[in-house]
Amino acid sequence: MADPERHPFLQGLSKHRGTPPTVVVIFGASGDLTARKLIPAIYNLGFDNLLPADFHLVGYGRKPIPDEEFRSIASNAIKEYSRRELDAEAWNRVGANTTYVSGAYDEKAGFDRLAAHIGEIERRVGGEVQTLFYISTPPSVFNPIIQNLGASGLGSRHLGKPHHSKVIIEKPFGRDLESARALNAELRSVFDESQVYRIDHYLGKETVQDLLVQRFANSIFEPIWNRNYIDNVQITVAEDQGVGTRAGYYEQSGCLRDMIQNHTTQLLALTAMEPPGSFDAEALRNEKVKVLKAIEPIALGPESDAARAQYVAGMTGGKGVPGYLQESGISPESSTETFAAMRLSVNNWRWNGVPFYIRSGKRLARRVSEIAIQFKRPPGTIFAQKDGFNLAANTLSFQIQPDEGLSMILNAKIPGLDTRTQPVKMSFRYATTFGSNTPEAYERLVLDAMTGDGTLFIRGDEAETSWKLYTPVLEFWQSQGRGGMEAYQAGSWGPAGADRLLAARGHVWRKP
Ligand SMILES: NC(=O)c1ccc[n+]([C@@H]2O[C@H](COP(=O)([O-])OP(=O)(O)OC[C@H]3O[C@@H](n4cnc5c(N)ncnc54)[C@H](OP(=O)(O)O)[C@@H]3O)[C@@H](O)[C@H]2O)c1
Repeated sequence: MADPERHPFLQGLSKHRGTPPTVVVIFGASGDLTARKLIPAIYNLGFDNLLPADFHLVGYGRKPIPDEEFRSIASNAIKEYSRRELDAEAWNRVGANTTYVSGAYDEKAGFDRLAAHIGEIERRVGGEVQTLFYISTPPSVFNPIIQNLGASGLGSRHLGKPHHSKVIIEKPFGRDLESARALNAELRSVFDESQVYRIDHYLGKETVQDLLVQRFANSIFEPIWNRNYIDNVQITVAEDQGVGTRAGYYEQSGCLRDMIQNHTTQLLALTAMEPPGSFDAEALRNEKVKVLKAIEPIALGPESDAARAQYVAGMTGGKGVPGYLQESGISPESSTETFAAMRLSVNNWRWNGVPFYIRSGKRLARRVSEIAIQFKRPPGTIFAQKDGFNLAANTLSFQIQPDEGLSMILNAKIPGLDTRTQPVKMSFRYATTFGSNTPEAYERLVLDAMTGDGTLFIRGDEAETSWKLYTPVLEFWQSQGRGGMEAYQAGSWGPAGADRLLAARGHVWRKP
């Protein structure tokens, strides 16, 4: 296996992005996301010398925690969750500047103390620092935090300069169109759009960015990336886990809100958008918004473009598992979907008539996220299926996780004296070519926000456009209660209704 630290392809890449002195403040610093992702991401950025010389981490939460204890919580999180082992020297560089401020989220007093603390850091640094506020709390406290960042003046620090304060806001960004609009309005009452970084961590994944590189840095794809050559596109974001310990959250969310509206739709937008004029944040996000706006309203009712279902007891990983309604914390009457699939039509010149099938669910056969581009079948005049040739449609698939890579299905001749064909797979795997220790999505995203690059974040109008598409589906499903809710066995690939969406156009789901 290639050593990622020494790999020749990775040598000589620039380490420093000119990040100004920065204070990252995490709201919800005692939480799960902070421990599992944010602190390990900051540690790894430090390890890679990607943090500015004057970097400070400040945890904020309701519980009083002494600085020393917070540093110990942070180093334990690194030991448990970081992709790299804890290296004392690398951690000391970050840990020495790690502190904690306690306060409520809905009282200005705590934010005033935080402002004084940041002012003190600035005095010690001997110059202005930028402040990056990471809101990593449950959504119920997003609004009070935003309001108090405004009231305390923290949100407008150094406004008008490149190191103005910035805010990263976690998902879910609203739970329907109305709440997303309200959250945008709240943000805009305190921040300029250029200060706001709405996170969808899928955009920080290597393979998602590779999709853009494959599309726009190779000349062979663009000429065939359209309805003349592509038959259908299938996007799968599958989990093998059940609801686990997150029953309370999931019951209020469901698959459409949790996965389809954000991750799956982002994958669709990057696959279907027009080439942006440049790789800057506005150009790329303009194209994503345009393509999302071109998606036709989703048909509901008898000829529905949408399917939803809940898992029932089955087997995963060789073990029997309970159905969703038997999971602890789930109402036996629950009408929350654990699986959703859609057939979407992008009504523009490039994609007219090409169905985009998207699906996501819990307790599916395996954990995998992929985008599969299925090309039209060859005419078959020479190697016709009826004559015993085994011809597959050419498929280009981007494997987002796990085992990141790219593969292409081609038809090849089976060696031998007679002419027989067989589909073969040509693959590129990240781990084989570049080594397996690639940065986590959160590393890339925290670094981008620190350097003011919003390309891999969701713009306000983009979030609203996506909710506009799905809110009628949510409302329709809510009006139906459990009516029309299908079941699928845990460990399967989903309900019959998802297969019917494709069968109606003569297609079948690919087994990823
Ligand atoms: N965990 C993940 O894997 C994950 C993945 C994607 C997105 N997210 C999003 O990231 C955010 C944080 O997730 P998380 O899993 O870290 O959440 P969490 O552990 O439930 O909460 C984070 C922190 O927020 C504070 N908090 C919790 N409930 C609160 C309440 N009702 N009122 C006020 N403060 C409360 C607590 O800090 P104090 O008590 O110290 O104040 C808690 O430690 C959420 O918006 C979530 O949707 C999480």
